[in-house]
Amino acid sequence: MSDSVSVLFVCLGNICRSPLAEAVFRQVVRDAGLDHRIRIDSAGTSGYHDGDPPDERTAAVAAARGVTVAGTSRRITGEDLERFDYLVVMDRQNLRDVERLLDGAPAAPRVHLLREFDPRADGDLEVPDPYYGGPRGFEDVHDMVERSARELLDRLRREHGL
Ligand code: 4NP
Repeated sequence: MSDSVSVLFVCLGNICRSPLAEAVFRQVVRDAGLDHRIRIDSAGTSGYHDGDPPDERTAAVAAARGVTVAGTSRRITGEDLERFDYLVVMDRQNLRDVERLLDGAPAAPRVHLLREFDPRADGDLEVPDPYYGGPRGFEDVHDMVERSARELLDRLRREHGL
């Protein structure tokens, strides 16, 4: 049983879904008084938006719900793959990309789709990319992330005795 656990959320651009998951999970963890036990970050598989702030639409929906999405987009690194205990991805393309980066190293049980933890997942287990869609997509993504974040913390508490 280790003293602390680390979680990296991963999406394509690191401006919509993974920074949101990072922010929501941070809040859930803080509310549980566990911020000193869980290290949290996010990254993208693409680097398309390197150095950019979070997407304004993501930030606006989150702000309306009292969550501040912060940080600067960055691409996932080899060091991330070594340092983080859990790599939590948003969709199956992210999953394939991370598995490719792991280059044959066993992905399970460290790599998870975020919606494996969504009690209302509809079967496909993906957080859909909201980038090219309308505002409803950002609301839906936020709901999925919120539900999943709570259950993810419960799982970590059980598995790591936090
Ligand atoms: P994210 O959303 O992966 O949730 O950050 C996207 C952001 C940017 C792009 C695609 C998805 N893009 O193609 O630029």
